Amino acid sequence: LGRRTVAVLLPEQPAAREPTWDTVLREADRATSAHGGVLLRTLDPQVTGADPLDGPVRGPAPDIVLASTSALTGSHWRPRAASEPLTSPLPRDAFREVRVPGRTIVVATTGSGLLAGLHHLVRQGESVVTDGPGAASDTTHAPALPIRMLDHWDNLGPHPVMGQVERGYAGGSLFFSDGAVREDLSRVAEYARLLGSVGVNRVAVNNVNVHALEARLLTDGLADVARLADVFRAHGIRLHLSVSFAAPMLVGGLPTADPDDPDVRRWWADATAKVYAAVPDFGGYVVKADSEGQPGPFAYGRDHADGANLLARALAPFGGTVFWRAFVYDHRQDWRDRSTDRARAAHDCFAPLDGKFDDNVVLQVKHGPMDFQAREPVSPVLAAMPHTRLAVELQATQEYTGQQRHVCHLHPWWHEILAFRPWGAGRSVADVVAGSALAPGGGVVAVSNVGDDPFWTGHPLAQANLYAFGRLAWDPTLSPERVLAEWAGLAFPGATERVRSTLLDVLGDSWHTYEQYTAPLGVGFMVRPGHHYGPDVDGYEYTPWGTYHFADRDGVGVDRTRATGTGFTGQYPAPWRDVYESPDSCPDELLLFFHHVPYAHVLHSGSTVIQHIYDSRAAGAARVEQMAAAWSELDGAIPAGVFEEVAARLAEQVRSAREWRDQVSAYFFRKSGVPDASGRAIC
Ligand code: GCU
Repeated sequence: LGRRTVAVLLPEQPAAREPTWDTVLREADRATSAHGGVLLRTLDPQVTGADPLDGPVRGPAPDIVLASTSALTGSHWRPRAASEPLTSPLPRDAFREVRVPGRTIVVATTGSGLLAGLHHLVRQGESVVTDGPGAASDTTHAPALPIRMLDHWDNLGPHPVMGQVERGYAGGSLFFSDGAVREDLSRVAEYARLLGSVGVNRVAVNNVNVHALEARLLTDGLADVARLADVFRAHGIRLHLSVSFAAPMLVGGLPTADPDDPDVRRWWADATAKVYAAVPDFGGYVVKADSEGQPGPFAYGRDHADGANLLARALAPFGGTVFWRAFVYDHRQDWRDRSTDRARAAHDCFAPLDGKFDDNVVLQVKHGPMDFQAREPVSPVLAAMPHTRLAVELQATQEYTGQQRHVCHLHPWWHEILAFRPWGAGRSVADVVAGSALAPGGGVVAVSNVGDDPFWTGHPLAQANLYAFGRLAWDPTLSPERVLAEWAGLAFPGATERVRSTLLDVLGDSWHTYEQYTAPLGVGFMVRPGHHYGPDVDGYEYTPWGTYHFADRDGVGVDRTRATGTGFTGQYPAPWRDVYESPDSCPDELLLFFHHVPYAHVLHSGSTVIQHIYDSRAAGAARVEQMAAAWSELDGAIPAGVFEEVAARLAEQVRSAREWRDQVSAYFFRKSGVPDASGRAIC
């Protein structure tokens, strides 16, 4: 907030104080004292006997006032710009920003609202207070989505195959070390501050694949879980645990986990009551059930509503929520079986259950029907369950988008997903997860890309994805360009115009670039099995995972039509069910997701499928070379550590993009026998 005088007015009674009020004071102090500003903590209109907004006050007049609506009760503050009294209560997390010439006032009813307002001011830099006649305004800011959550896939200790953080590319866990919660949580406190500053309000700290040790966090680990919850609470963030559906057996010693068994119900009720005794504002559970080997209700002949409601009923008395994942499919499929389609699985399993979930169940749906690819259609589940609270799940950790060795700025992709209109017109995905009259919203969840790495995210530029997630969860309509510019300004304070424009250049279209050199036209995968890094076109082709491209000598792609394929297109409402059904209307970027077409098929772009494969692989790899060259110009212009780390990762991205280009091009040349019309040499 610079060299400014900031006044903070908070409720007097300790009972009315939330932990976030103290954080507001600390943050306001941090934002002023470091820059030669002044923080007034006790400015009270009754004490000063004057209206500090319009008239003279004792002591320095504040440039910025941060006040809770309750602290203002009894005062008659009403700056001319304010459309209604400053004491009017506001919804949770919301804040009001009233500007008069030379002064900016932020009021909120809750601590988390005021904290959001303070961070909003900090983001504005010099323009936080404006002068001149046009400076008067009164704006209420509120998050579009009620739930803005990050899921960590952290294990307590190293996992033999996955490492400590499953699909983690930023070192070990921030929370856990040596099989327990860390003693020193000072870095977690900095992380909570980062998340709070962009409006994230829930965090799940452990992996959705719950192994034996982690299953005990729910019971033996509670004192430590409470320590973590304290750290997040200060920034308005509620803590969640991933739990095993088989916990009654794994940690409770019962012979079954059947949702219909009274002992099982009692066990969950007792275990949950103990969690709330330790963490009174515990957010609830995250559950991956009947998925990739995790236990679930199918073992007892029950459905997923039975399973989710079992946990929901244990949480309901305490105000907790179950985040029940819709990522359920057969991962032991026979690749010869052309009738089973993994893309269909979530809709087949969950759509018939619409209306059967309790009010405190959120169904957490991956954004696409497959698995976080660089391009997929939006999951049809998001349009099929009007009576269910739905959340959309994104993947900030770059499992399939370059594993934080490649620059891949995901906000443009997430923006497209949230702006997608499942009915062609009317409500968007963002509207669906914001809630309706039929079901409250479940919000947006992302799998975190953070670890104990010094840059938090491994690749320093991957921080932009974390930042973008928080900002889009608050306001999905914000443009990726604006948020990226905002991030660049905050992450590189005082940077020159050249540095800023290079950052925007390198990050801006990097998702499209990544899409260009990897699997073509929405077909997906083609990655190395297991770790999923780098190209392997047939790596998953004859496996049980359901992720095939069906390339042969004549063509490529998956026929998911109703007419001749798996019928997946029929899971969409109109108009998409028809748009996707025909190769004539299917968008190019999704063509091979929905159709098996000959290599000579002509795209809307005018190119053939085979020539598009050659051209876009080459263009993508060439663009990465340009990105690396642009970055090299920043030597000496930004901190050396960041420069070198990004330069090293860009060198790997150049190598990897060439490898993708050459393997994918060679593969399709050998399958099709069609030469590259531009004469490029293909091995
Ligand atoms: C992907 C990922 C797994 C993860 C799973 C999930 O399949 O590879 O590591 O467990 O998604 O979302 O549950």
